[in-house]
Amino acid sequence: MSILKIARMGHPVLLARAAEIEDAATPEIKALISALAETMEDAGGVGLAAPQVHVPLRLFVFHVPASRADDGDGVALRAVINPVVTPVEEAGRALGWEGCLSIPGLRAAVPRWNEIRLTGLDEQGRAFDEVLSGFAARVVQHETDHLDGVLYPMRMEDFRLFGYNEELDRYGQELL
Ligand code: NI
Repeated sequence: MSILKIARMGHPVLLARAAEIEDAATPEIKALISALAETMEDAGGVGLAAPQVHVPLRLFVFHVPASRADDGDGVALRAVINPVVTPVEEAGRALGWEGCLSIPGLRAAVPRWNEIRLTGLDEQGRAFDEVLSGFAARVVQHETDHLDGVLYPMRMEDFRLFGYNEELDRYGQELL
């Protein structure tokens, strides 16, 4: 169908607050979800938010491959519209490695909530309310941040844990 151009860090669309989607059940939103999924898959990412393809709306797609899931259960590709993330604070925060299709070639260790409550609308426009943990919770926090103009370096607390994938593959894994 269509692979879209991904905005890279430095583009103002990545720093703006995206707008709520008023009507989730339109052909335009359906087409945008398909294009986001296709673009994400082509780029090899686990999540992609609409502002990353220059569309300032509150929508993202994500998936968790079984190989990346903490509990062995992956999350099949899905879309989330107008997400609201509430941390389950008792579960605490943890550092974990993150990359971003808008910041190619780099990754960093970023603190995120271990568990979150996520509400929003699915690709059919139906409301949902669920609890996510581990890597899925991390991905959703990263993608929801994109809708608020926040990129992962803005969440970092230790800039020693920031580098190029190639170097981190060789030297960096024991940093955490
Ligand atoms: Ni990202």
